[in-house]
Amino acid sequence: MTGRTLRRQPWAAPALLLLTLIGVGALVAAIDAGTQPATASGAPSQTQVAKGSALFAEGCASCHGPAGEGTTDGPSLIGVGAASVDFQVTTGRMPLAAPNVQAMRKPPSYDREETLALAAYVAALGPGPAIPSGSVVDEWRDASVAKGGELFRVNCAQCHNFAGRGGALSDGRYAPSLMSSTPLEIYEAMLTGPQSMPVFADTSLPPESKAEIIAYIENLKQEPNPGGLDLGRFGPVTEGLFLWTAGMGALVAAAIWIGARVR
Ligand code: HEC
Ligand code: HEC
Repeated sequence: MTGRTLRRQPWAAPALLLLTLIGVGALVAAIDAGTQPATASGAPSQTQVAKGSALFAEGCASCHGPAGEGTTDGPSLIGVGAASVDFQVTTGRMPLAAPNVQAMRKPPSYDREETLALAAYVAALGPGPAIPSGSVVDEWRDASVAKGGELFRVNCAQCHNFAGRGGALSDGRYAPSLMSSTPLEIYEAMLTGPQSMPVFADTSLPPESKAEIIAYIENLKQEPNPGGLDLGRFGPVTEGLFLWTAGMGALVAAAIWIGARVR
């Protein structure tokens, strides 16, 4: 059978449709697996801790001590918890280039797996705040932006400015803009209080209030450019929708092509 006669078979169109559907489904599933929010839920495995220990010895021990006990160049990490490591490493603050400079946000030096390994190793040194689970972090999607605005003005605006754009602090340091922080990073910053930022523990600022604050910040991020082609910013839902649309487009194109050939 040549390609042409193959396409003329009565079953060709349904079969192609089915194949394309399966293909699109597999693609969406693959992408979905890749965007699963990584959390430290469940006990970290021994291999993860061992991997973290090796990475720590190489990249962190010079300042934080071989067992995370701290040196004159860096504080002890015993009891800071996985959330602090995740925040510091994903925002690129750690590893710090040199002691005595304010840790700044920069592209991360470690991938997700390495970051979670480092976090597991530090968490094993002493109990501290765990990385919040994806479902807890995602609660901001249903939270009240208006309430978040009130909470933000009371708790955060004096340092980060009412629009979250950051500002100078009295001690010569500065509070950074929040416009590049992900919901997980915002949650972890509140939970761990990096540097001169206070800790907002769940006892004083419950998870619902944290969700409202995140909702407010996410809303601030979107206001400067309503609409537009900023696909990357809206996360897996929009990306899934985009893929779905692209997949449907391919299907329709295939159907038209078959139709045209049969006629
Ligand atoms: C050049 C020295 C240096 C290196 C290298 C370094 N750190 Fe740090 N680290 C510091 C200093 C100094 C601070 C405190 C500064 C601050 O809070 O801004 C700090 C703070 C931290 C904190 C916050 C602690 C807390 O109280 O919550 C964590 C977590 C951390 N470092 C993890 C790491 C990890 C993981 C690595 C390796 C990937 C690393 N650091 C590499 C110097 C260093
Ligand atoms: C006393 C001043 C102060 C207050 C109040 C404060 N912060 Fe911060 N915040 C800071 C400083 C300073 C840093 C930078 C820490 C560093 O350099 O390691 C920071 C960092 C952050 C970051 C990380 C930003 C980045 O670059 O990725 C987030 C997110 C954040 N704060 C959110 C909040 C939220 C939300 C509140 C209110 C609940 C808040 N902060 C209240 C001072 C403050």
